[in-house]
Amino acid sequence: MKITGNTILITGGTSGIGLALARALSAKGNRVAITGRDPDKLKRILGENPEWIGYAIDLIRPESVLELATSIQSDLPELNLLINNAGLQFEHSFLEDSQALNRVQPECRVNLEAPIRLTLALLPLLLQSPEAAVVYTTSALGEVPKSSFPVYAASKAGLSAFATALGVQLKDTNLRVMELVPPLTETPLNAHRPARGKMNPDQVAAEFVSSLGRNRRIVRPGKARILHAIHRVSPRLARRIIEAQP
Ligand SMILES: NC(=O)c1ccc[n+]([C@@H]2O[C@H](COP(=O)([O-])OP(=O)(O)OC[C@H]3O[C@@H](n4cnc5c(N)ncnc54)[C@H](OP(=O)(O)O)[C@@H]3O)[C@@H](O)[C@H]2O)c1
Repeated sequence: MKITGNTILITGGTSGIGLALARALSAKGNRVAITGRDPDKLKRILGENPEWIGYAIDLIRPESVLELATSIQSDLPELNLLINNAGLQFEHSFLEDSQALNRVQPECRVNLEAPIRLTLALLPLLLQSPEAAVVYTTSALGEVPKSSFPVYAASKAGLSAFATALGVQLKDTNLRVMELVPPLTETPLNAHRPARGKMNPDQVAAEFVSSLGRNRRIVRPGKARILHAIHRVSPRLARRIIEAQP
């Protein structure tokens, strides 16, 4: 797919990997729209990048996802690249936390349900474009779960399965399905974890942009590629590596 001249919507574009993707794709001459949950943060980022447009939206609410799709249909009818990137992550210790169930729904809604809803709502628009792609930011933890993030890992595994199945359904169309599988990356999502071994979000974005141009279906930057290779040979070793991460 061409890496310039696209019209792109990036959810979770106000921070971390999404913001790095927005900067990298904007620098390549694409029109960029982002979403974020925090309106003040969104306003500040749009102030720094006046050529971008933005939508403050809480993806936990299914009706907000539909409202976003309606706005995109009128504001960006030429949309040809949708990057479902927004995500959140909670640690769970089910033996110690009797209220853990309260945090399950937000994780499932934002990480799994919202990208599916947004994709289906924007599918007719994306199918109109001569060349289009829909991207899902999943996680290496979707393939090799870490015990402290069970719901996050399950939501990302589910999203990865959805991407694979959707890709088969769309195989004879102009719309490609891609998956970005970042390794542990230095972003606010995991700021509480030590910085050792984390990938820089700009490097993740650079690998994504280069893979977009080479029509790769799955992009595994840095250690995500190594972990995937290890997992194919020894799932047990891959799980040990993940559990040893701080
Ligand atoms: N960092 C890693 O190590 C890593 C590894 C693998 C995969 N990933 C995935 O990469 C994606 C980006 O994560 P990141 O590390 O860049 O995290 P981040 O810096 O925390 O950014 C998350 C983005 O998602 C938005 N968001 C969160 N909850 C939302 C909600 N309820 N409604 C709307 N927007 C919401 C945030 O908006 P606000 O800032 O306004 O809240 C922010 O723009 C996620 O899908 C994550 O699972 C991250």
